[in-house]
Amino acid sequence: MIHHSMQELARAAIAAPSADNSQPWKLRISEGQLSAFAPPEPNFFGPGDHATLLSIGAVAENLVQTMAASQGGGQLKVRDLARGQPYFDVELASADQPLVVPPHILDRHTNRHPYASTPVPGEVVEPIKSLKEGAAKVVVLASQGELAEFIRISIICSESRFRTPELHRWLMDSLRYTAEEVARGDGLDMRTLHLPPGGRSFMRFIKDWRRMEFLNRFGAYRLLAQAEADVLRKTAAIVLITGRDGLKEAFDAGRLMERVWLALNAAGWAVQPAYVIPDQSNRMLSESLPRACREDIAKALADLRKFLRQPEQERLHIALRVGLATKTPVRSRRRSCAFSVS
Ligand SMILES: Cc1cc2nc3c(=O)[nH]c(=O)nc-3n(C[C@H](O)[C@H](O)[C@H](O)COP(=O)(O)O)c2cc1C
Repeated sequence: MIHHSMQELARAAIAAPSADNSQPWKLRISEGQLSAFAPPEPNFFGPGDHATLLSIGAVAENLVQTMAASQGGGQLKVRDLARGQPYFDVELASADQPLVVPPHILDRHTNRHPYASTPVPGEVVEPIKSLKEGAAKVVVLASQGELAEFIRISIICSESRFRTPELHRWLMDSLRYTAEEVARGDGLDMRTLHLPPGGRSFMRFIKDWRRMEFLNRFGAYRLLAQAEADVLRKTAAIVLITGRDGLKEAFDAGRLMERVWLALNAAGWAVQPAYVIPDQSNRMLSESLPRACREDIAKALADLRKFLRQPEQERLHIALRVGLATKTPVRSRRRSCAFSVS
């Protein structure tokens, strides 16, 4: 029998966001302790990859905030960020202390619809600007010029993504069309996406890379990147999580991303992450970009560094598009058997 508080901790953990709702964690619960491991089954991103560590950092942040809201509190111990054996443990001050997940942790979500152009007021933005975790910090882009430059660079990275077979397969494999597929509790429920009329059928049509490759000869990747940018344009601000590169640095960036996202959603602001630039920058480093895109991406990343006045050892971890929601989004599900007891 698992103690109610430990079930609550598991609920807080799995509410965390992850790239394409891949949920790259396996939770283990024992007396008063919860540990987050890398899942045994392979994931698109490896256990020590940047995107995985952002999610694991978000899981940790949910747990730290849940423990802090309970009487007695608890402690986070970071262990093995390279392999996730485990990534970290959290331990309650007392194994049977009462604990309930604060509602703002369960309410956080991604909204991929266009937002109203209402500016984010200073009383919301200013406290966020000063948030930090380790070497990770927050940069807010809100002027027309800043947003336009960021969107220009995003488009270049997005075009490259639609020309990369590996990324195409990952996206297509993560899409969930039928009620049965959605019930699996992972991946991207098609209803959570913002698609134009006919978009759903088009996505099915391009599932086969050979079709996408064929359409790309006529510039389909440009149209798809522009469609993505259209939503990015309907945004009041873009919040960047930046800082030094490294395993702990990515984990800390994930904690900060989640803290910012929780605060924005709780204040009534919609959020959608945009990982395309950091992903292309990781691919540049691991030399896994299609040859035809390398030069453009290198130039775009250099432009970003210049525009953000970023020193060589710093990077963009993730961007969050922020604005007032115009439509309530469908919420993503989670896999059900998310933890084991030892
Ligand atoms: C590292 C990371 C990268 C993500 N990248 C994107 C992205 O580029 N575009 C997007 O729409 N959502 C992105 N997301 C949001 C996830 O798809 C989302 O968190 C997941 O589907 C679960 O949904 P929820 O946030 O509503 O709980 C990202 C999330 C994380 C943690």
